[in-house]
Amino acid sequence: MKISPAYFLVCFVITILFAGTPSHSDPTEGFTEVPLTEANFELQKPYDIPLEQRYSYVDGVRRFWVYADDKPHNIASMTQPRTEARIMGLDYSSGVWQFEGHGFVPNGTSGATIAQIKGGANNASTTIILRIYGGDMRYYSGNLIQTGLYDKWFRLNIIHDVDGGKVTVFLDGVQKFQVADRGPGDLYFKCGVYAAPANISYYMESRWRDIKIYKK
Ligand SMILES: *[C@@H]1O[C@H](CO)[C@@H](O)[C@H](O)[C@H]1NC(C)=O
Ligand SMILES: *[C@@H]1O[C@H](CO)[C@@H](O)[C@H](O)[C@H]1NC(C)=O
Ligand SMILES: *[C@@H]1O[C@H](CO)[C@@H](O)[C@H](O)[C@H]1NC(C)=O
Repeated sequence: MKISPAYFLVCFVITILFAGTPSHSDPTEGFTEVPLTEANFELQKPYDIPLEQRYSYVDGVRRFWVYADDKPHNIASMTQPRTEARIMGLDYSSGVWQFEGHGFVPNGTSGATIAQIKGGANNASTTIILRIYGGDMRYYSGNLIQTGLYDKWFRLNIIHDVDGGKVTVFLDGVQKFQVADRGPGDLYFKCGVYAAPANISYYMESRWRDIKIYKK
């Protein structure tokens, strides 16, 4: 079969056009926003100090900070220090769910989980952890998702297809990472700062605004 140069040209142009489309699609398209109130935000902070010493909510911006030598969130816990919001009260056990938030991480914060999905099948502790190390975002301490996130606002969308068993991460509307989930369970989204097991900066902070939950 003879293929004409015109055919190649058309294919080439179509490829160029479609290569550009992902950045123009919106991860929330086809989803419905789930209304949230302050009652959906359950805050965790070092157990021995008042919340206002590790969290503020001013002009729509939630600021979470924690120090490497802070206490865990409860006296019986052996976990690393955290100041985080758990987004609770959703019936998030099947279907397709999405977290959206605009995040900001100041230069210097390192070894800090800034967003996660808690839970999974067989009492899995987490489905996904998004950590900042030196301005880069990683999946736990592994896969590199994005570099150069310090000192700027970015839009984070995490889609959890519970029925399909996968999690997809978008930054500024562009798909950056996809991974299998850990099965259905007692799931919820979280954001803030939670110290990693190692390689952590003394001071850790993240800021969040316009946090929304969607489902379909
Ligand atoms: C972060 O701070 C360090 C030390 O001050 C500096 O060398 C580096 O360029 C800063 N990074 C960014 C992205 O501003
Ligand atoms: C999950 O944890 C609960 C409470 O600790 C326990 O009763 C249950 O057996 C665990 N389930 C699995 C599948 O490990
Ligand atoms: C943590 O630090 C050690 C020692 O510098 C290094 O080998 C390791 O790759 C670091 N891990 C991460 C996730 O940055």
